[in-house]
Amino acid sequence: MQVTPQIQKEIQRRRTFAIISHPDAGKTTLTEKLLYHGGVIHETGEVKGKQGTKAVTSDWMAMEREKGISITSSVMTFDFDGLRVNLLDTPGHKDFSEDTYRVLMAVESACMLIDVAKGVEERTKKLYEVCRLRKIPIFTFVNKLDREGKDPLTLIDEVEKTLNMQCYPVTWPLGIGQRFRGIYNRLTKEIWIYDQRREEVEDYKIIPFEKGKDDQILYDYLDKESADQVLEELDLIESALPPFDVNEFLNGTISPVTFGSAKQNFGVDTFLQFFTKYAPGPQPRHLKDGKDMDPCDANFSGFVFKIQANMDKRHRDRIAFIRICSGKFERGMKVKHSRHDKELRLSYASQFVAADKETVDDAYAGDIVGVGDTGNFAIGDCVYASGKVHFEDIPKFAPELFGKLSVRDALKRQKMNEALNHLSEEGAIQLFIDPIVGHQDPIIGAVGELQFEVLIRRLQDEYNLEVKLSRLPYGVARWPRTEDGKPVTDLKGGANMFRDLQDNPVVLVNQEWDLNWLKRENPTVEFHTSISRA
Ligand code: G4P
Repeated sequence: MQVTPQIQKEIQRRRTFAIISHPDAGKTTLTEKLLYHGGVIHETGEVKGKQGTKAVTSDWMAMEREKGISITSSVMTFDFDGLRVNLLDTPGHKDFSEDTYRVLMAVESACMLIDVAKGVEERTKKLYEVCRLRKIPIFTFVNKLDREGKDPLTLIDEVEKTLNMQCYPVTWPLGIGQRFRGIYNRLTKEIWIYDQRREEVEDYKIIPFEKGKDDQILYDYLDKESADQVLEELDLIESALPPFDVNEFLNGTISPVTFGSAKQNFGVDTFLQFFTKYAPGPQPRHLKDGKDMDPCDANFSGFVFKIQANMDKRHRDRIAFIRICSGKFERGMKVKHSRHDKELRLSYASQFVAADKETVDDAYAGDIVGVGDTGNFAIGDCVYASGKVHFEDIPKFAPELFGKLSVRDALKRQKMNEALNHLSEEGAIQLFIDPIVGHQDPIIGAVGELQFEVLIRRLQDEYNLEVKLSRLPYGVARWPRTEDGKPVTDLKGGANMFRDLQDNPVVLVNQEWDLNWLKRENPTVEFHTSISRA
């Protein structure tokens, strides 16, 4: 059954996306400017700390501020041009790539942010690959045009070659660095001239511009050399590129590129206008049984892609972030839970405007709601109003760092194990259980060093546990399976077998060499680097 026309209208005006970038490309700055244009904040600089510290509202924890990175991902919601936009923050640091992967499962499009001087950096490349895998359409925003950098043609060529993806410049920069004066919007055939002397302004002149007829205008605003160069570049791209094909964008083969300076608020509004025109709304979601769930299906459904515990230490809270995939959410509604097969009431729900939580009474497919969780949820769980709705699994990936914790006060060992369980349900770490020793002394697996640091800090801050980490020599984890996907518990060659929390057998070895040995000894076994959570 389909939702009512009124609900359908609400669903169709949702746009859910994330920004992907290498640290320092300007994600926080761009987010702030987007929130400013969305009317959520009224003065730029509100998000960044007044003393120039990285007190950014999208960063919740003190440690993130100290490190100048965004570790956990939050959700920000704003209205623009009649649309309800949900912007999901992704951690830029490589040690939190799994968290980012999960966020990308919850969006319909992504904005790839590139520093004009640095081009395609390592993290951007990795995140791009995830988007590609999921066939998410990608907008590209080239940032920091107010600084010297690569010329736009070179940069576009680099993006196309490195990522093996075609670009479609929507705007074109007029000068760069000291000589940056504005942008030309190829779709609306206008040039936008900014006043670069003042920071954080949105004063600009919009002048209709037709190449070949109005060329002189460029010379009025740019020095001769820059104007000559822009005209030459425009000649090149206009003759080489076919018109913008929205379908090629939606199937992920072409990325529309806009240029600007997030810091100076140049080109952010142009990006937003383009985004709101072309970004896809909620799409059908794949189910495990091979079918799709239509966002306008009247059966409410969603999945948990993130769990955040103890955001506020005073109230030991835990929030499960649900991406709504179909229908309408109403606060207090009863839903079924895929893993426990039981009924739950979603009585406390919130949406986020930066760090401020607001209670929501209703939300629609495309939205993200945070629901209060008393320990019912784990990453990948599905909720639905009726029937059985199981979305495709969110995979977890093989960690590369391993350790064990010991707690100073032996009486707190039980408490530590409970805390580790909570944190692994959140997806912050992975636990591996020795089948002989049991749950008492789990091995902790992390994808990156910083995850360990955060773990120790959180155990101290949130659970009042002083712990010591001893590193283990393992470096590779694999889930052994038969060809037809059945778990393998016995391996030849003296393997160290453990169990993950879902009771899947896992083998831990020190290095690839050992793994290759096991592969030779067990030729019929497949060693999986990732596994679904269910
Ligand atoms: P991130 O979240 O991607 O890590 O990047 P963030 O926004 O924190 O920006 C990283 C640095 O780049 C910041 O400088 C920021 O001001 C600067 N930046 C962002 N966008 C632009 C831009 O369009 N032009 C220029 N020139 N700089 C930009 P910082 O020195 O680390 O901090 P701050 O003192 O400027 O706040």
